[in-house]
Amino acid sequence: MSLFRKKSLDVLMSQAGDSEKGLKRTLGAGSLIALGIGAIIGAGLFVRTAAAAGEHAGSAVTISFIVAAIGCAFAGLCYAEFASMIPIAGSAYTYAYATMGELIAWIIGWALILEYALGAATVSIAWSEFLNKLVGGAIPFEWSHSPFERALDASGVMHHGIINAPALLILLLLSLLLIKGTQESATVNAIIVFVKVAIVLVFIAVGWQFINPSNHHPYLIPADAPPAQLRDGTFYSYTGFFRHGWGGVLTGAAIVFFAFIGFDAVSTAAQEAKNPSKDMPIGILGSLVICTVLYILFSYVLTGVAPYTDFVKAGKEASVAYAIDTYMHGYGWLASLVTIGILAGFSSVILVMLLGQSRVFYTMATDGLLPKVFCALHPKFRTPYKSNLILFVFVGLFAAFVPGSVAGDLTSIGTLFAFVLVCVGVMILRKNDPGRARPFKTPLVPLVPILGMLVCTAMIVSLDSTTLLTAFFWMIIGLVVYFSYSKNNSKLKA
Ligand code: ALA
Repeated sequence: MSLFRKKSLDVLMSQAGDSEKGLKRTLGAGSLIALGIGAIIGAGLFVRTAAAAGEHAGSAVTISFIVAAIGCAFAGLCYAEFASMIPIAGSAYTYAYATMGELIAWIIGWALILEYALGAATVSIAWSEFLNKLVGGAIPFEWSHSPFERALDASGVMHHGIINAPALLILLLLSLLLIKGTQESATVNAIIVFVKVAIVLVFIAVGWQFINPSNHHPYLIPADAPPAQLRDGTFYSYTGFFRHGWGGVLTGAAIVFFAFIGFDAVSTAAQEAKNPSKDMPIGILGSLVICTVLYILFSYVLTGVAPYTDFVKAGKEASVAYAIDTYMHGYGWLASLVTIGILAGFSSVILVMLLGQSRVFYTMATDGLLPKVFCALHPKFRTPYKSNLILFVFVGLFAAFVPGSVAGDLTSIGTLFAFVLVCVGVMILRKNDPGRARPFKTPLVPLVPILGMLVCTAMIVSLDSTTLLTAFFWMIIGLVVYFSYSKNNSKLKA
């Protein structure tokens, strides 16, 4: 049945080996770990930690991070097996093509657009917001918001957004960097990663001295916790099942899951890794482990410095700076540093998301499922420059003209969907092709992939119905494109 035609692993391997014409193999293990950290540490840590602590988990947001990390580790182990075995740029899309056939591969490629392209758009909008904070609101509202947004200023004048110019600017700069070269992009990424990790470490080290042990007692929010009074005088109640105790910890995990999105992007660079069979597992799992440790320490300090109830009252986005300003006297400079860390964090997340998206498109175009323009390489830089430019326009339109609130959860759903299929794929390939060399083997198959599937599916269904419905419509559009173009242009067409 042609919908389930599969790409042979031997063909995939020979494509991966054809580095003369293809993408350049320039990345070592260190760069791959840095790419992972580049994509991972961003809004999830700096913004969502406080929201999860304040509204659901309290100090036990550290446990939420552990739960989310365990879920990601299951998927990460499956990714590592595939990425070391099939070092091709398409990541989950390619793995699905080899194991579940073309239609599922297409669906997952289409879902990855939600993760990477939409992820980049969302984070670039947040980047614009934080830049404006750093410069004291100097960028006029009109030029830093989409036409769908409006706000009253202090003197009662209503401002309407026109275009989010800073978001466009950061996307343009990073797209040009990606065109210039993967090695160059990796170097810039490494510098950014150094800056943001240093800032996270400074916050942990300095904040440790300001931990007030009473803020950590009780560690989980008790069922009888008094409601927190919000700024507008209303109250936030903790009585609901998902707002205290272990229920709250679980919801907290779904919220901070966003903070882990990105480790899978390492696998999209598999075709540019010098020694993928060894370095891919190191890049994927190494970045995941390092970030998990940093996240637990960071959230432990944050909820020790400020009581969790503060985070429902104080501006959520600026919660870390708020905690520093309010409780760490004499460290105002650290609050500014954190804003710089956030901007740096967002930049590398956007960079790696754009990289990942162009590499998935590259592979889909090579397979004939997308037009050839997406796999055209620059004659000198050997990067998919046309794809990078088209992506800039597509992601830029989103970033410039759509409000940021629309896309965050869609990014999670695209990612979780890919995770589920990668877990399924590992089990299928173990059964269908048991003898193939696997430089890295997922331990305890089928237990680990099954647990990965269960955890990720549980997180998908915990997302709100609007997100699920939007993702569903996105998939319908994808199927229309597949049946009207991709199916007929596939290289596997008999
Ligand atoms: N993990 C990335 C972030 O937290 C997407 O911003």
